[in-house]
Amino acid sequence: MYTTILTALEEGILTITINRPDKMNALNKDVITELGAAMQDAIENTEVKGIIITGAGPKAFVAGADISEFIPLDSSEGAALAGRGRELVFDRIENCPKPVIAAVNGFALGGGCELAMACHMRIASDNARFGQPEINLGIIPGYGGTQRLTRLVGKGKAMEMILTADMISADQAKVLGLVNYVASQDTVIAKCRELLQKIQVKPPLAVARIIASINEGAAGNPAGFDNEIARFGECFDTEDMKEGAAAFLEKRKPVFKGK
Ligand code: COA
Repeated sequence: MYTTILTALEEGILTITINRPDKMNALNKDVITELGAAMQDAIENTEVKGIIITGAGPKAFVAGADISEFIPLDSSEGAALAGRGRELVFDRIENCPKPVIAAVNGFALGGGCELAMACHMRIASDNARFGQPEINLGIIPGYGGTQRLTRLVGKGKAMEMILTADMISADQAKVLGLVNYVASQDTVIAKCRELLQKIQVKPPLAVARIIASINEGAAGNPAGFDNEIARFGECFDTEDMKEGAAAFLEKRKPVFKGK
């Protein structure tokens, strides 16, 4: 039913593949619409426990927003383009109550780097390259790049990357904390699955609360500490908390139900 993305659900893990390899998987309007719909489905579908986002082909994760859509836009249309992407895709990924991992299998530039950064974790293939080259087009990042890159790598390095448009390698991204792991091209998806499988057996209500709380911490939200306490308290009303504590005391593995 989708024309620009592929989806596959296997053992609770939904893989969403952006599928425009001849255009380096650039994010045009259709990709944004379909990615937004796929994320909404993933949030609502109880069979989905975790999500991988990747790009088709051997060269690119996503080489940015589709530049061919830029020329006719004026200031309000440019802002609307960025706002629509934020609402449909970027915030939806970041706030997803289930873990979302970017399998960065090649170029992650501009909106592609921003897409990877909206995910909760990033695994890069050894040929991946990261960058925010918007300045070369006379624009600035619009899908959260100035905010999320600063949070992930710090102000000085974010300034350097966004002002110079220089790309960095997967290994450099790892040193900077931009990616969690670097894997070979043929094992990057397997590494994502390994992480998601570990999280899949954890209590989902706690998983969702951890994601929400860490997001607030990363955003420097002053309510983060109070909200952590509130969510900590909420966990005590869950069956999974009783099961987790009982299983520990009974020296057995817990079986969580998401209740
Ligand atoms: N938007 C639209 N089309 C894009 C694109 C983008 N962001 N990135 C790549 N493409 C298209 C190219 O125009 C080309 O199309 P064509 O075959 O019809 O001419 C095709 O994808 C292949 O790209 P090409 O540049 O020929 O591949 P390459 O291997 O020489 O270079 C990149 C790869 C990723 C380094 C280069 O494509 C690039 O710099 N892309 C733009 C990155 C960018 O500025 N992103 C920020 C956008 S805000």
